Amino acid sequence: MKKLTGILLASTLATPLFAEAVDDTLVLNEEIKMVTRTAAPAHMAEEVDEIISGWHFRGKETRAMQADDFDNPGMIFVEKGEDSWNKVEGSEGKSCASCHGDSASMADVRPVYPKYNEAAGEVRTLEMQVNDCRENQMGAEKLGYTSGSMANMTALLASVSRGKPVNVAIDGPSSATWEAGKELYYARTGQLELSCASCHEANYGNMIRADHLSQGQINGFPTYRLKNTKLNSVHARFKGCVRDTRAQTYKPGSAEFVALELYVASRGNGLSVEGPSVRN
Ligand code: HEC
Ligand code: HEC
Repeated sequence: MKKLTGILLASTLATPLFAEAVDDTLVLNEEIKMVTRTAAPAHMAEEVDEIISGWHFRGKETRAMQADDFDNPGMIFVEKGEDSWNKVEGSEGKSCASCHGDSASMADVRPVYPKYNEAAGEVRTLEMQVNDCRENQMGAEKLGYTSGSMANMTALLASVSRGKPVNVAIDGPSSATWEAGKELYYARTGQLELSCASCHEANYGNMIRADHLSQGQINGFPTYRLKNTKLNSVHARFKGCVRDTRAQTYKPGSAEFVALELYVASRGNGLSVEGPSVRN
């Protein structure tokens, strides 16, 4: 049984009930066996033994929806992403496919993002890279960072990588960004003085109001949420979680959220890419 960390958290966690991650196996379309729990990567082995996908903390019906593409409401948006992949846009008369070929050829991309880009000298999220190609390769308008059309594209790029293990680099030129993200993850903020770790490391498995707390992994993004019936991007989710702690939040696409994304992604190194996943 996990202990709650302090009075502040106890006031938020109205019913501190513990319920284990559900023991279940995710086989996608009766074909791809997904890694939804595995040993924690070395960099966090002192804090957590095992990393577990958010899929294990959802109810039976929600889990089943994700196991079959015909039942997964997120797959409609993948189709929209595919249409936009093939659509010529911008001053150069090109589509994504003109340069990259089939979307399936991008299968090794999602697992390693956020990733350091040598020429730009920065760590880039997938959204940043998509917009860089739109602007500088196609002469097209950037997409809104958390817009539906961007989420459709990231859902497409995730979908072709499903089953591959998340494997973001945290060393070399990525290390400063990773450290900055780690600091944000453990920083206690807001009136409630909660960090990401207060909920997703110290209390996963506990109930918070009616919700079963997961490790806050991002291997399933973008996620189709039953609550708002659309795809939700990583930074939109971060924003929602920070707001819940009554702290000032950062903007989607900000340097802070990019760093936080790299760090949180690295806490899932070894889990299968699941996007678009289905969540509450
Ligand atoms: C004119 C050619 C061109 C077009 C059109 C283009 N790209 Fe790119 N794309 C590139 C090049 C070149 C790179 C490598 C750039 C780099 O590393 O800085 C790249 C890299 C990428 C990457 C990162 C791959 C990796 O292995 O890290 C993604 C993701 C990507 N493009 C997505 C898209 C999407 C989505 C579109 C359409 C909206 C698109 N690209 C349109 C040329 C193009
Ligand atoms: C007060 C507790 C609390 C704090 C603090 C908190 N979250 Fe969450 N978070 C939740 C709840 C509740 C959910 C929905 C249930 C779940 O998936 O854990 C959630 C969901 C998530 C998810 C979705 C997981 C999935 O599988 O779809 C991510 C990612 C996430 N949080 C990241 C963060 C990050 C990063 C921080 C710090 C900036 C943070 N959270 C802070 C309570 C919290």
